[in-house]
Amino acid sequence: MKTPKFQLQRILPFAKQVLSSLLEEGDTAVDATMGNGHDTEFLAKAVGRTGLVYAFDIQQAALEATRNRLGPLVSRTELILGSHANMAERVPAGVTAVMFNLGFLPSAEEAFVITTGETTIPAIRAALSLLKPGGIISIAVYDGHPGGAAERDAVLGFVQQLDAKDYQVIRYGTMNSLSSPPFLLLIEKSSW
Ligand SMILES: C[S@@+](CC[C@H](N)C(=O)[O-])C[C@H]1O[C@@H](n2cnc3c(N)ncnc32)[C@H](O)[C@@H]1O
Repeated sequence: MKTPKFQLQRILPFAKQVLSSLLEEGDTAVDATMGNGHDTEFLAKAVGRTGLVYAFDIQQAALEATRNRLGPLVSRTELILGSHANMAERVPAGVTAVMFNLGFLPSAEEAFVITTGETTIPAIRAALSLLKPGGIISIAVYDGHPGGAAERDAVLGFVQQLDAKDYQVIRYGTMNSLSSPPFLLLIEKSSW
């Protein structure tokens, strides 16, 4: 069978397609939820040799997994053991892209550590303040685990009240799946 010329994508490849179209050599980006480092690695490649990626996680295991994954690309990153809620203390303004991948680290041996609205909302607020005009925040939202629905509602409540003059907010995701499908939010800061 012939491969179609265009296929709809799942949320994470779609987020990466959007951000790789936006990011350029020398840019600054943030991975707000480092986990196993897949997104940090993607961002480190996208910002090139002269760019920089700040990546946050509260689990030491996440930093180790990410450092191992990055190999020599680690020189393009600053891996920070700490909450994304304090992002503005570590990251200078003028960021092109920020990625959030909410939920929990699938391979974690430690207790179930999930993202929660208590830190995710301050982190999104900080990310908005750091973003340069035309910059984009991507947020992958998973609500199928315990605590996921409360965080989803907090995030949706927050992004829905953002002033449309200043931000465009887009939601992308599967609508015809029986169990809680994840979805993607994209927030673009106005460039005028
Ligand atoms: C779904 S995982 C991220 C997956 C990751 N992007 C990857 O590529 O593997 C969510 C991560 O958020 C982290 N996390 C939870 N609360 C956090 C916080 N306040 N600040 C930063 N990271 C946090 C968890 O430890 C977990 O590793």
